[in-house]
Amino acid sequence: MITFDDRTDTFHLTNGLVSYVLTLAKTKYLLHRYWGPAIAEYHEPDPIPTPYRSFNLNQIPGDWRFSLTELPQELPAAGYGDFRPPALAITQANGAQYVLPTFQSYRIMAGKPELPGLPATQASDDEAETLIITLADAVAGVTVQLYYTIFKDLGIICRHQTVQNTGTQAFTIDQCASASLDISPQALDMITLNGADLKEAQIARQPLHPGIQEINSIRGFSSPQHQPFFALAEPAATEISGLVYAMHLVYSGNFSGTVDVDQFGMIRAQLGIAPDHFSWILAPGETFVSPEAVLNCSAAGLNGLSQNFHQLYRQHLLPKAWQDRPRPIVLNTWEAMYMDVSLAKIKAQAVAAAQAGIEVFVLDDGWFGERNDATSSLGDWQANLDKLPGGIPAVAKIVHNAGLKFGLWFEPEMISEKSQLYRQHPDWTLHVPGYPIVEGRTQYVLDLSRKEIQDFIVQTLSKYLQTGDIDYIKWDANRQLASLYSPNLPPERQGELSHRYMLGLYHVLATLTQRFPRVLFEGCCSGGGRFDPGMLRYMPQTWASDNTDPNCRMTIQNGFSLLYPPLVITAHVSASPNEQTGRKTALATRFAVTQCANLGYELDLTQLSPPELTAITDQISYAKQWRRLVQLGTFYRLPTPDQNHLFWEMISADQQHVTVLVYQRLAPANPGFPRYHLAYLDPAGQYRRADRIYGGDELMQVGLTLPPVHEDFYTEILNFTRVH
Ligand code: DGJ
Repeated sequence: MITFDDRTDTFHLTNGLVSYVLTLAKTKYLLHRYWGPAIAEYHEPDPIPTPYRSFNLNQIPGDWRFSLTELPQELPAAGYGDFRPPALAITQANGAQYVLPTFQSYRIMAGKPELPGLPATQASDDEAETLIITLADAVAGVTVQLYYTIFKDLGIICRHQTVQNTGTQAFTIDQCASASLDISPQALDMITLNGADLKEAQIARQPLHPGIQEINSIRGFSSPQHQPFFALAEPAATEISGLVYAMHLVYSGNFSGTVDVDQFGMIRAQLGIAPDHFSWILAPGETFVSPEAVLNCSAAGLNGLSQNFHQLYRQHLLPKAWQDRPRPIVLNTWEAMYMDVSLAKIKAQAVAAAQAGIEVFVLDDGWFGERNDATSSLGDWQANLDKLPGGIPAVAKIVHNAGLKFGLWFEPEMISEKSQLYRQHPDWTLHVPGYPIVEGRTQYVLDLSRKEIQDFIVQTLSKYLQTGDIDYIKWDANRQLASLYSPNLPPERQGELSHRYMLGLYHVLATLTQRFPRVLFEGCCSGGGRFDPGMLRYMPQTWASDNTDPNCRMTIQNGFSLLYPPLVITAHVSASPNEQTGRKTALATRFAVTQCANLGYELDLTQLSPPELTAITDQISYAKQWRRLVQLGTFYRLPTPDQNHLFWEMISADQQHVTVLVYQRLAPANPGFPRYHLAYLDPAGQYRRADRIYGGDELMQVGLTLPPVHEDFYTEILNFTRVH
């Protein structure tokens, strides 16, 4: 899949789906040539023109035509006059901010190497091939290795870089992107997922314009404000067709994604750790590893892009044990009990849950220390025996006796000032000496860059998990990072703290998930505030949002579906009126939306009427019947005739079953007769729904005409089975 043509000094990575081409200028400068749909062979048809320009900078003395100021580069670095955003910036021991790594060698290996200390996609020797290009700057003592993995059957290339100090003096890395490349001038739209707490994953699409457009997080976590992702789409690209490129970062901390349109319209796309709040001192012999960036290209529109991401994350990122496992249906106590938990309530809910067919009972916040509100007890992970006599073993017994698996909520990275842990270790928090600690939800953040704190978390959770009583952990984190200072680091290394925090967290997660592979971990961060591929490497599902209103959830799940398969997006049916919006919606609507993801419930079952309980019992048995299709099949967003509707289609892995969801936000007055066109079916196939037979071509070309319904927030689920 990877070749090097030594006549033209060109690397070509291709798998028949995508091609990625790099070339060496003057045998040492690594230039970007092409990324897009596959080409069979790259002949280097036209060399890049190097016209004389009076005021360009020339990196080779006397060569007035050669200018890295304008050439399309693969590792643009700061100092020599590129002037566009750099992918590498170094301050040398003498203070010079300059580095110019040039080509030394390359090697090609089967499979994909791991990224030490960092989450990354994985591939066996027959699933992928990796190109490693070594560049070096001997004066600065900098050696860079660029990694490119191409997967055999996906339109995906994964990139990262390592920086090694091969000199004799320490230097500082000021910026180290995971991927950077220069695309030729063209009109493209930038698509991003933006939002906030309760409004995660809102899709935004705008045409590129001259200058830098950026999405980032310097909040310590990937954040609900921006997903570490952007796509660049042809203006005409739709869900179904058109050329789309995207980058997504396998990382959960600060990041920056920039797209710069320069003086010639050349587009530099870049993604990596945010340079703000970052610097890293590298001593002789040491190596820094950047997180991994996923580069995705599809000529089949946004759904094509999503299918690449979904398959990559399901098959090459999630912990093996959970890749092909439909998820159990959960009852979570948060909206039913908040922190007012008791054995009696737990028993009543667990019994009702078991009767309805629920499979896991998750005890959320409020079970430990003096935790009656959010002001106390984080860090004191011992059960409150007044609320729960007999502690967690007693709860586990009740839950297991009811026939359910047992899940428990933790917020391991945090500490309350009102806690025994804080009294014992007031220095364990992130805090800047001399200032009050910045609070969030009246809590502080443990300094996970420190080994003893990582060990404390591993030991605390291990004690619970090794009893065998716990089948599921909900891992929450309810504030972002500030007061960034660690007494453990010398002054000149404080800029390393945010990344060291992440490395510490990944170490803790890797240790726990390897030690307890049977346990299902769910990531959560005030809802979907840290929903990223980094977390998914350890925790195979994420709570997408605290907003459980189906009208909002449709938008949120629709946004997340750009990147993530339904298997990993958790969604709960909650009470009506909704806690977050006050909106009243039908139980059927709440279910219809959540069952298109990883379904659970989060409401007081003991308050429901007998017909509601019967309806929930029926929903659960329906979901059990269809969850393999939803969670292990393929998921598509389909175009709708107007903005008032959303239309999703899911096809089983064996192509024999198809289910679609049509969602109507508001009932229109005097509606017309819109058609809903299915897609991705076999045009020659025959599909049955109830007593009707439809041709695949009919469903796709003629479409479905649905009768108008005078109901707001209305959902229709239609199931088809292939008969021929
Ligand atoms: C925020 C989470 O998103 C909620 O689901 C819940 O677990 C609360 N934290 C508990 O404090």
